[in-house]
Amino acid sequence: MNLTRLVYYSQRNPSETLNVQDLIETCQRNNARQNLTGILHYNGDHFLQVLEGGRAEVSAIYHRIARDTRHVNIILMECTDVRERMFPVWSMGLHEGLEGRSREIFLRYFATDEVNPETVNVDSLLDVLQDFAAELS
Ligand SMILES: Cc1cc2nc3c(=O)[nH]c(=O)nc-3n(C[C@H](O)[C@H](O)[C@H](O)COP(=O)(O)O)c2cc1C
Repeated sequence: MNLTRLVYYSQRNPSETLNVQDLIETCQRNNARQNLTGILHYNGDHFLQVLEGGRAEVSAIYHRIARDTRHVNIILMECTDVRERMFPVWSMGLHEGLEGRSREIFLRYFATDEVNPETVNVDSLLDVLQDFAAELS
């Protein structure tokens, strides 16, 4: 099986109701069935998500997620074959908020705590998410 990693970010759609707990439970239930893993960061405004798994499964879930009206302005940053998973532990880990320690981590890699589509670099984003993941485990 080829292993693929997909990274995107998006913005919460303020016109839609969002229950993050319900969302993450759906992610975990569906992803576990398809051997998908990853991490979802939500800071109250932006989502950053990494999905890892078989190419067909990653592609299919991304297309489903992209149609979800709970978020908008979806920017696909990377979709590439990889040798191993960076986030093998959770069917979908949830990291919420950008205060305190998380903000410190974020500012290690980015000059401001605004996620700017023009300036964000995918490798830095993955570094941040790996540090967030280390906080979770
Ligand atoms: C930011 C965001 C991330 C999501 N990530 C996933 C995911 O990793 N896996 C998943 O199955 N659904 C994810 N969803 C939900 C899907 O868009 C869709 O609602 C869900 O897969 C439908 O599942 P259901 O048919 O079991 O209700 C995400 C939605 C949003 C807004």
